Amino acid sequence: MKIFLDTANIEQIKEAADWGVLDGVTTNPSLVAMENKKFEELVPKIVALCKGPVSLEVVSTDADGMVAEAEKLMEFGPNVVIKVPMIPEGLKAIRRLAQREIATNCTLVFNATQALLAAKAGATYVSPFIGRLDDAGHFGMELIQQIVAIFDNYAFGTEVLAASLRHPLHVVEAALAGADVATIPWSVLQKIVKHPLTDRGLDQFLKDWAKVPK
Ligand code: E4P
Repeated sequence: MKIFLDTANIEQIKEAADWGVLDGVTTNPSLVAMENKKFEELVPKIVALCKGPVSLEVVSTDADGMVAEAEKLMEFGPNVVIKVPMIPEGLKAIRRLAQREIATNCTLVFNATQALLAAKAGATYVSPFIGRLDDAGHFGMELIQQIVAIFDNYAFGTEVLAASLRHPLHVVEAALAGADVATIPWSVLQKIVKHPLTDRGLDQFLKDWAKVPK
């Protein structure tokens, strides 16, 4: 399973890249707003740090506007993926961008039929939002299982990108369900790298090492 970082924060992206675990980055308008920096100044830094796919989201709600925005966003680099909302106009934009071999990430996917439509339109990735489904009283991870099975049944090339992951078990479950990608917030990445027994074990090894005659 590929690991993308769900952030627009430069320091977080740099740190994950230094760990050697960063396969890509996903952003959205809310994540960009949190950085309080001009988009045109922020994105080149993200694209320079992340060699893998970087999802940048359009904010138009009509297909013509989305395609025009995509053309501008593509100027940031060859690894840019155009994030498009799962609405009828979004499907039109995905189809038109796919015909031009421009990579897309269909976002705000909340059921398997939406994912099926996005794949048929030619999306490179679909992003089911697991945590938001959990928040609404659903078993979000079941959606990943359904989409993985459907895409396998019909050999769709579209990758399943598990999004809106909120805790370490979400990452484990996404991997077990066969998600192609998990996009992980920084807070969750920090949790999955740690285990108290690792810290305790390292502490003991260092204490014992100090006792070795020098
Ligand atoms: C996906 O690409 C989105 O950026 C993200 O995963 C949404 O997560 P949230 O529900 O925590 O905002």
